[in-house]
Amino acid sequence: MADKPVGFGLLGAGLVAPFHGKALRASEKAQLVAVADLDEARGGKFGGEFGCAVYRTLDELLANPEVECVNVLTPNAYHFEAVVAAAVAGRHVLVEKPPAMSLRETDRMVETCAQHGVRFGVVLQCRVRKPIQAIKQAIAAGRFGKLLMCSTYMKWFRSEAYYFSDAWRSSRKSGAGVTIQHAFHYLDLCQYLMGPAKRVDARMENLAHPKVELEDTLLARVDWANGALGVVDASTALWPGTDLRVEVSGEYGTAIMVGERMDTWRFRDDRPEDDEIRQYGSASVGTAATGPTDFAFFDHQVVIDDMADSIRHGYSPAIPADTVRPTLEMALGMYLSAKLGQPVELPLASEDGIFS
Ligand SMILES: NC(=O)c1ccc[n+]([C@@H]2O[C@H](COP(=O)([O-])OP(=O)(O)OC[C@H]3O[C@@H](n4cnc5c(N)ncnc54)[C@H](O)[C@@H]3O)[C@@H](O)[C@H]2O)c1
Repeated sequence: MADKPVGFGLLGAGLVAPFHGKALRASEKAQLVAVADLDEARGGKFGGEFGCAVYRTLDELLANPEVECVNVLTPNAYHFEAVVAAAVAGRHVLVEKPPAMSLRETDRMVETCAQHGVRFGVVLQCRVRKPIQAIKQAIAAGRFGKLLMCSTYMKWFRSEAYYFSDAWRSSRKSGAGVTIQHAFHYLDLCQYLMGPAKRVDARMENLAHPKVELEDTLLARVDWANGALGVVDASTALWPGTDLRVEVSGEYGTAIMVGERMDTWRFRDDRPEDDEIRQYGSASVGTAATGPTDFAFFDHQVVIDDMADSIRHGYSPAIPADTVRPTLEMALGMYLSAKLGQPVELPLASEDGIFS
């Protein structure tokens, strides 16, 4: 007999919520029970569209016993308190990226979830893309040989109106900025593939959003702890926005993902299965280059289905927060480096004062 679908409750009915709603609607392993949003009009609109209970607060959401897992979809700086409260109430938690704004908060969230025996996953859905999984496996199998370079290029566009569509999007304190908000996905893919960075040297600029007091552009050099080098070139200033790239090269091969498709997959030991891998993904699937909702919900569904499986079968979710911690540390290191105007060694000696 099939498992009973896991009941999910969403905290936050904003921009990303419909991606969770559609994923839950399509899932056979999970079902949407309720949404809570302080903005009653938003919550009501979402509830009407997706046919679920509507609440205002997390406490009300947690009072519903059918909610087994809470998806935290609030602005970045508010993840911490919601994750801790949901875990203390005995609910599993799936938090949107970045997990929190500091390593200290991330560690506390991980500890609290462990203490209360609940699963804790992070939505970094790009990790599940087939090209990324293929690169990960090829690295593990030694097909690249010694890794030499891993870089990411995110030449996106967001209008000034986007930054003012919600108060937090232009607020550093609330967790905005191209590094921690948009590029975080691709910093994470590089970290997921290469392991942690040992040194970052970053420069941050605002090229095209003069009314916004944030960096819209990040240029960074990365020394990976495994000895490889890399660069991060990420911006929301570059109209019309083009597909992001993640590039990995080793002594025996190069792989490049563009958007969600495999653009380049070349190894000295070409194998029969490589032809199929070269076909992974599609140029017609949006990956948020041109606007904040220009992407598909399928990757969210993989993450949510995995979370449901991890809850029903008692194993760790595929993207646990401790595997995201080094990405957050790299992003924080970049902010510190840009602030100091000099390279920063990782792990960080201190995270105090980075955003002040
Ligand atoms: N994985 C992705 O590709 C992706 C894409 C977009 C956004 N995100 C992430 O999702 C999160 C939300 O982003 P968004 O763009 O949907 O933001 P948003 O501002 O559109 O929505 C957030 C909602 O949370 C509500 N809210 C805030 N505090 C609350 C509280 N204490 N209780 C109840 N409701 C509360 C707000 O009223 C708002 O409606 C962020 O962490 C962001 O980084 C991820």
